[in-house]
Amino acid sequence: MKVFANVLLGLFILEAVLAAPPTDTINYDTDTYEVDLEDLDHLYDYGDSQIVDQGQIEIGTVLPVVNRPIVSPEQVPEETEEAEESTPKLIDGSSPQGPLTPGVLGPETSGGISTCILCTCLITTVYCDDRNLDSVPPLPKATTHVYLRFNKINKINKNDFAHLNKLQKIDLTSNIVSEIDEDAFRSLPLLSELILRDNRIRQLPELPNTMNLIDVSQNRLGRKGIKQEAFKDMNDLHHLYLTDNHLDHIPIPLPDSLQALHLQNNNIQEMHEDTFCKMKDLSYARRSLEDIRLDGNPINLSKTPQAFMCLPRIPIGRLF
Ligand SMILES: *[C@@H]1O[C@H](CO)[C@@H](O)[C@H](O)[C@H]1NC(C)=O
Repeated sequence: MKVFANVLLGLFILEAVLAAPPTDTINYDTDTYEVDLEDLDHLYDYGDSQIVDQGQIEIGTVLPVVNRPIVSPEQVPEETEEAEESTPKLIDGSSPQGPLTPGVLGPETSGGISTCILCTCLITTVYCDDRNLDSVPPLPKATTHVYLRFNKINKINKNDFAHLNKLQKIDLTSNIVSEIDEDAFRSLPLLSELILRDNRIRQLPELPNTMNLIDVSQNRLGRKGIKQEAFKDMNDLHHLYLTDNHLDHIPIPLPDSLQALHLQNNNIQEMHEDTFCKMKDLSYARRSLEDIRLDGNPINLSKTPQAFMCLPRIPIGRLF
């Protein structure tokens, strides 16, 4: 019986320690100490089953708490999987109210799969990134923005974007485009952003004068890759990115609207004093063009100090 009483005493102390909030400080007040000793005396009355009952009550309240985290992780993923499955149905353009409705699910591709099933159409934007495409799929007539990044498209044909009169942005980043039909973009009345970064383009085709941003970085544009006066009449052109090509000249004339001209890592060896400024008009200031990159070219910018007089900032590049 004494052993049983000792076990009970041990359990009681253990329980008291566990039940005590960790922030409680030990109270050395003599009055409290005496009261505790009196309580301990009652323990030896093993006929009293109150302590055992208390233990059972505590186990009863603890168990559900232990169970909850085991149940919930299994239920939560099931719910999200269902949600993911149903999401494409909401945004594939098949909704009768959708702006892309005329073709219901968009035009049929050569494989017979609707573009808005193969890709994702969200209002008038078509997301076709990373779909293993080797050509531009037929696009809904109302398309304003199209993303075709990370595919295997090797050629842009005359009809790929033809008659898409609402089209504003085309992003063909990271394909293997080596050939672009001369008429592929020039008749698009609202085209303002064309991103052809990281392809194999040797010749930039004619672009409409509505362009804001052109990015043909990381391509194979060489001596004849850009036509003469290609950007001359683009009065809204803000950003022109031509880094990492084999260009041997700066494509002039540049429109006054230009804010950023990136030409780093090309083969530009010399610059004319009229490339950015006008030697005949010393009052001329090209205020917008604050960001010119010419680093990574075999050009010595110190040779033409007059060439930067009209600029708000000297180009980045070799100055000695
Ligand atoms: C760069 O041009 C300046 C001015 O003409 C000249 O003093 C300097 O030696 C040139 N540096 C090189 C590396 O050709």
